[in-house]
Amino acid sequence: MTVDLRTDYLGLALRSPLVASPSPLTGELDGLRRLEAAGVGAVVLPSLFEEQLTHDQLELDRLLETTSEHYGEATSYFPDLEDYNTGPWTYLDHIGQAKAALGVPVIASLNGITPGGWVGHAKRMRDAGADAIELNLYTVATDPRVGAAELEARYLDLITDLRAAVSIPLAVKLSPFFTALANFAVRVEAAGADGLVLFNRFYQPDLDLDNRSVTPRLVLSTSEELRLPLRWIAILFGRVGVSLAATSGVHTGLDAAKVLLAGANVAMMTSALLRHGPEHLQTVEAELRAVMAERDYDSVAQLRGSMSHDAMPDPAGFERANYMRTLMSWASQHQVSPGQAADPDPAPPTGQTAR
Ligand SMILES: Cc1cc2nc3c(=O)[nH]c(=O)nc-3n(C[C@H](O)[C@H](O)[C@H](O)COP(=O)(O)O)c2cc1C
Repeated sequence: MTVDLRTDYLGLALRSPLVASPSPLTGELDGLRRLEAAGVGAVVLPSLFEEQLTHDQLELDRLLETTSEHYGEATSYFPDLEDYNTGPWTYLDHIGQAKAALGVPVIASLNGITPGGWVGHAKRMRDAGADAIELNLYTVATDPRVGAAELEARYLDLITDLRAAVSIPLAVKLSPFFTALANFAVRVEAAGADGLVLFNRFYQPDLDLDNRSVTPRLVLSTSEELRLPLRWIAILFGRVGVSLAATSGVHTGLDAAKVLLAGANVAMMTSALLRHGPEHLQTVEAELRAVMAERDYDSVAQLRGSMSHDAMPDPAGFERANYMRTLMSWASQHQVSPGQAADPDPAPPTGQTAR
């Protein structure tokens, strides 16, 4: 059985739903070429940060010094941005070189949270050849004086500004930490976005007591993390008109099949490609084809969204019922009585039924 992997993402026609999300791998031409040779559907370049476009180096230094007065080794928070994405101007060259070297769409990434003149850089990215822009709204809401409504309004203003600056497709990469994510997603669409990328993965730093410092800890993901984007893609499919991309926890063809079944247009990968190399994409594609063929799906179009919440009249009720079922499954599988040890890893309860 031939399986048709073609998909549409942000209005771009892709040969495969397997997309390389931003990482050092997409920051190098060699990595990009290897990804394309392995069959990637599109690539997203590493982010260029708002801070790189709004602060000159002196300003950034001042910021680092001020912070370090309070936090000792706080400068370790800040990545060496120039080393990572080579700075705003060389970034444009990277877009141009990537476009010249690849046949698949090249998506540039801007990482920022406040509206401002820096947004105009999106035009230069477009002019350099970017097929689309991904805006990463990576932030941790730490200010107790700023409420959710104010923050969301700020993000929406930023999306509106970016939409006004360029007409190429625009995706927004979100965190899962919104009180009413479905509502915010609808407003992101109304502000002009063409796609949602779910979700940013938060790197939680650790404390080093000996050096009294904060230690950045980058731990690559596992398939276990898939379930958060999986749930939200299933919820949002059919409720928003934009493309949906899953990121966080896609490691295998089965993982990719799951997010497509939930309603994603594409399955994005970083950790698995950093761990096993870009050629791992071939394995994942072969697995995806096999999973689809075994279940008689002959195209991504047919697969997409067939296990979403779309057909469900009461998704919130479904979520509560599933929650209760999950809690009850422990006791029913283990017959736990007080003081008795239980199997620490029970089999999961069964999920929802496909349409
Ligand atoms: C080393 C590294 C660098 C990354 N750089 C970026 C970046 O510049 N911009 C961005 O939006 N995401 C970045 N990410 C996040 C990934 O694109 C991806 O969303 C995340 O790793 C979750 O996907 P995964 O489970 O497949 O790794 C980076 C991840 C890693 C591990």
